[in-house]
Amino acid sequence: MADEPLVLGIETSCDETGVGIVRGTTLLADAVASSVDEHARFGGVVPEVASRAHLEAMVPTIERALKEAGVSAKDLDGIAVTAGPGLAGALLVGTSAAKAYAYALGKPLYGVNHLASHICVDQLEHGPLPEPTMALLVSGGHSSLLLAPDITSDVRPLGATIDDAAGEAFDKIARVLNLGFPGGPVIDRLAKEGDPKAIHFPRGLTGAKDPVYDFSFSGLKTAVARWIEAKRNAGEEVPVRDVAASFQEAVVDVLTRKAIRACKDEGVDHLMIGGGVAANSRLRALAQERCDDAGIVLRVPRPKLCTDNGAMVAALGAEMVARNRPASDWDLSADSSLPVTDPHVPGSGGHGHGAGHGHGHGHAHGHGHAHDHDHVHELSKDNLYS
Ligand code: KG4
Ligand code: ZN
Repeated sequence: MADEPLVLGIETSCDETGVGIVRGTTLLADAVASSVDEHARFGGVVPEVASRAHLEAMVPTIERALKEAGVSAKDLDGIAVTAGPGLAGALLVGTSAAKAYAYALGKPLYGVNHLASHICVDQLEHGPLPEPTMALLVSGGHSSLLLAPDITSDVRPLGATIDDAAGEAFDKIARVLNLGFPGGPVIDRLAKEGDPKAIHFPRGLTGAKDPVYDFSFSGLKTAVARWIEAKRNAGEEVPVRDVAASFQEAVVDVLTRKAIRACKDEGVDHLMIGGGVAANSRLRALAQERCDDAGIVLRVPRPKLCTDNGAMVAALGAEMVARNRPASDWDLSADSSLPVTDPHVPGSGGHGHGAGHGHGHGHAHGHGHAHDHDHVHELSKDNLYS
């Protein structure tokens, strides 16, 4: 264990300043400072507010993580940082801090992908990921099915949302129900007291001719909003718990159905679920039930490791070091729309400056999908029906 890489990871892609420290696949510290309360009154994350909060929280959070882990910065084998996708200004604070610490300490720097980190974090909970791993990634800005033969270098998208992300749907429905922001946790809680069969909401893209692995939550969002509006117009009380439970059921039914189909089609017997929505209790329960029926091993990290944190970045960074991936160049830049197919960002030269001597792989900057965190600017009520 002592010879496994000791890595500090910094996450600032959205509203959480996360600093985690891991040794190999062992979690030593997970310090998170959230600015979520500062955004709540706006109904979504305000990028400028998030950037400033990261700046203020960065040094104290790094110090807290080092103290919690009981390690000294000079003993680190590398510093990993989220290079994207996410809010540009927020990412910039993280990458600048990571560069400053890495340079000052003489440690290699690893720019990593936020989405791949959401998958790799499960190593801290359930040990090394099987190869390949099937991953259902569901966050506030992203919903996709990914086949990952190697989480440090080879992540292949099988399908993704064609409109809203799963977390975005939770946040928007919570807004229609006046439940505040973020919506996922409160809907999860209220749904426990509601009837998931009370209202049948549509299951997007599940028809015979629909794309098998893609998701769509926009039609569901509109159906739920119209249903609520009709009740209100009729002067009737909205059964919030039943709406929450029925809406949540529609989301998790589709997510689990498609994920299991992908595992079967690809002959993969492990399913990993990651991202903030993976904290959802009903998603976890239904996925477990359906995986058990299909003979698939389910891996979902504990809720705190599902939502944004620094430990996930450190976990992927440690894997980069363990596999001799090249360190990033000092000119590593934040990329707000970094594609999920780039788990690792070597920088422009691709050769790195520090330890490691693997290959620098090319940058395929596809912009096919709505990128992570785009939704946070949508503060207008009109968008609910778009
Ligand atoms: O991964 P994450 O922390 O940040 C992004 O990378 O987007 O995901 C945040 C999203 C939010 O949309 C939030 O409402 C959702 O995850 N979320 C949940 C739950 N906890 C967080 N959605 C459903 N149920 C939950 N318990
Ligand atoms: Zn995330």
